[in-house]
Amino acid sequence: MIILGIETSCDETAAAIVKNGVEILSSSVASSEEIHKKYGGIIPEKAAREQLKSIIPVIKETLLKANLSFPKGVFEIDAIAVTVGPGLIGSLLVGVETAKTLAWLWKKPIIPVNHLIAHFYGNFLNNKTMEQLSNETIFPAVCLIVSGGHTELVLMKDHGKFLWIGGTRDDAAGECFDKTARLLGLGYPGGPAISAKAAIANETMKQLSNETIKLPRPMINDDSFDFSFSGLKTAVLNRIKNTKLTNPLITNQLAFEIQEAIADVLVKKTLKAAEKYKVKSILVGGGVAANSRLREKFNATMKQCNNETIKLFISEKKFCTDNGSVIASTAYFNYKPIPWQKIKADPGLEITQIA
Ligand code: KG4
Ligand code: ZN
Repeated sequence: MIILGIETSCDETAAAIVKNGVEILSSSVASSEEIHKKYGGIIPEKAAREQLKSIIPVIKETLLKANLSFPKGVFEIDAIAVTVGPGLIGSLLVGVETAKTLAWLWKKPIIPVNHLIAHFYGNFLNNKTMEQLSNETIFPAVCLIVSGGHTELVLMKDHGKFLWIGGTRDDAAGECFDKTARLLGLGYPGGPAISAKAAIANETMKQLSNETIKLPRPMINDDSFDFSFSGLKTAVLNRIKNTKLTNPLITNQLAFEIQEAIADVLVKKTLKAAEKYKVKSILVGGGVAANSRLREKFNATMKQCNNETIKLFISEKKFCTDNGSVIASTAYFNYKPIPWQKIKADPGLEITQIA
């Protein structure tokens, strides 16, 4: 089955054509990130306007890249999948209304996709190990989604069967990277900026006399599977309140410690959930999952635990940030088309319990 996936929940306009949920025939992404950079964060109206400009060219390019001529080649597409939420309403509407129009025009089934669930499916794309495993050896799985707006832990019993077990009570992990990067004057998006400074911190720390910066790991030993990252942001703010950040050594060390703190909490809580629910695998996805230190810590901690019954999957970096492939893949494994008239953008869409 060949599915065209469309994603416009935030500042990326993306489309992809995916065969049988795992094989990417083509993928195109246009991003308005450069525009938002100069404002230090996303301006929703600007993001929506850019979505409008990019959506048709991006879909057209994806069809052409898959050798499906436009519009004749659309006969080979079996269905259209589209992100309906959560996200920015103006951005979502562009993708949703375009997908509905194409579904009506091309007479194709259309599948609404929850963007959060789609982030787990980055693990299924082009992943030979995953393909060779049967569902019985993957599920139940604990899934961690770490993006700009969300930090959620979900128990996935099978495709389409989800139980939400915890999430952030305030800022998401990506939001914490973005906000602390802003406090440090490192620009947007904060994750890659903090990561770059943290990478050179090892060297700088040696030169920083005896003063090492320690930040809290909020809720790391809490019994629940919830997270809270706003305290970490406040700790950074307090640390720099009366300091002019003219010393790059301090900025770098703060970046290092922010990354360590976020990664420590994410890894510890995810593993705790995996043990409690006796899962067979852990699936990690979302923009923050592209963070090299987080990936390293996940791998190292799994090794230390020596728990061979739990398999760890972290989406390939290129599937961590928003793209159309994960949308098409989610629709393939959760194939529930509905009449196009009933498809609606829902900016506050959550992961509802489907047992
Ligand atoms: O999943 P995503 O592309 O969009 C949303 O659905 O929100 O995630 C964007 C978030 C931003 O907060 C960005 O700072 C963060 O992912 N991010 C990273 C890295 N790359 C992107 N955070 C840490 N390290 C990275 N390498
Ligand atoms: Zn996302």
